[in-house]
Amino acid sequence: MAIYHLPRGTQDFLFERTLRLEYIESVLRDLAESYGYAEIRTPIFEHTEVFLRSVGESSDIVNKEMYTFTSRGERSLTLRPEGTAGVIRAFVEQKEYAQQDYPYKAFYLGPVFRYERPQAGRYRQLHQFGVESIGTRSPYLDAEVILMACHMLNELGIHHYRVKMNSIGDESSLKRYREALQSYFAPAISTLCEDCHRRLDQNALRILDCKLDGDKEIVKNAPKISDFLSDESQQYFSQTLQILNDYQVPYVVDDRLVRGLDYYTDVVFEIEAEDHEGHSFGAICGGGRYDRLVKEFDGPELPAAGFAFGMERLLLLLEKDELLHSIVRELETYVMPLEDKVFQYAFDVMMHLRLQGIQSDMDYGMRSIKAQFKTVDRKRAQYAILIGTSEMEQQSVTVKSNTTKEQKTMPVDELVPYLAEQFATREEEHTHTCDCGHDDHDCCHGEGDCHHHQH
Ligand code: HAM
Repeated sequence: MAIYHLPRGTQDFLFERTLRLEYIESVLRDLAESYGYAEIRTPIFEHTEVFLRSVGESSDIVNKEMYTFTSRGERSLTLRPEGTAGVIRAFVEQKEYAQQDYPYKAFYLGPVFRYERPQAGRYRQLHQFGVESIGTRSPYLDAEVILMACHMLNELGIHHYRVKMNSIGDESSLKRYREALQSYFAPAISTLCEDCHRRLDQNALRILDCKLDGDKEIVKNAPKISDFLSDESQQYFSQTLQILNDYQVPYVVDDRLVRGLDYYTDVVFEIEAEDHEGHSFGAICGGGRYDRLVKEFDGPELPAAGFAFGMERLLLLLEKDELLHSIVRELETYVMPLEDKVFQYAFDVMMHLRLQGIQSDMDYGMRSIKAQFKTVDRKRAQYAILIGTSEMEQQSVTVKSNTTKEQKTMPVDELVPYLAEQFATREEEHTHTCDCGHDDHDCCHGEGDCHHHQH
């Protein structure tokens, strides 16, 4: 077996897929900013207690999935299995609550680590894009968070999805519900898996989303949280759903959705998506309200809500639906020295282009003209800049468009203005042919199947 290979559940993103991820990130980032969120970055590892306090000791994540290690200073540290805990820890530690401009709206993006059994769409290092909105308890805010997630999907061109909604109530409803589940499952616990035995004592709620027993009749027939909600929680949930109705969000109420992390209260949701052939991609986004967590981290009593998208799942879905075909790596110019003795001149032309803000690369190997043209194609260079002896002697260049194949020799001084004009015309043409309404992007070429993108 090869020694140098990827650990299970991880993957390399090479050029093209990185570009696709960057595109997805830029759509999410731009939209989050337009909803008033700003980016924060927290460490990839935290003291283990941060996750014990938040994600919770009864969760699968804490029990089985954390990458925990002891530092040289004998402290227990854990690679973050999700982003919310770190954000709230930072919010409290840095006293961000002092500014009181609530809601405090943060978004983040980065790797998280879970020791799960790898399978399609499930990784041990994954990336999440998440948002957290702290300081406000209002159904409008719960709805806004969900509306924003849907807006993000629509913007990416994903339309086959539905939002599963539930309310798990406030602390007292949850407590009564847990007790009811415990009495319900106790007599039949021997029919459930080992983990469920532990869950029965620790937190019977976790039995409902057991990956092994979740589909058994006994679990399906368990008492429902909706029968335990306080009037306030019930009303809060109805108000949130009403706002989603007003905005035609495709949701279903799923009273078995409890989410696998312990910090939630009241409204919780997950977004499930299908590809165009109707194959499920599982949950691409999960989130909800968590009104106790800031206090748990010794902060003030402040409510909060948020969600996180799984970036790999979004990427797989968009790739499956061929929604990323126009996200390709391109290069504006590729300089081709045709003889050894022009190399220095060609190098100077390339640097001149770069210093003037035009992308450029060149052949350093003095390969044949045919080989160099192949590179021009492979790199999707828009223009080849050919340089031979006569070009060097006349301080000129020959510019060949890789689209029209037209070529033109001109003094080197005219190269930058010429290219700038060509690029501006190209941009304009794309803007005019596009009827998607996104007039600042190169997109559907008039075919209406666009998602705008950046190069
Ligand atoms: P989560 O549901 O555990 O929530 O994860 C959010 C999303 O991350 C999932 O819907 C899924 O798309 C992706 N994901 C999770 N595990 C994996 C995996 N092993 N492989 C690939 N993708 C995965 C949270 O993490 C909460 N912190 C969300 C939140 C923010 N709630 C409030 N604020």
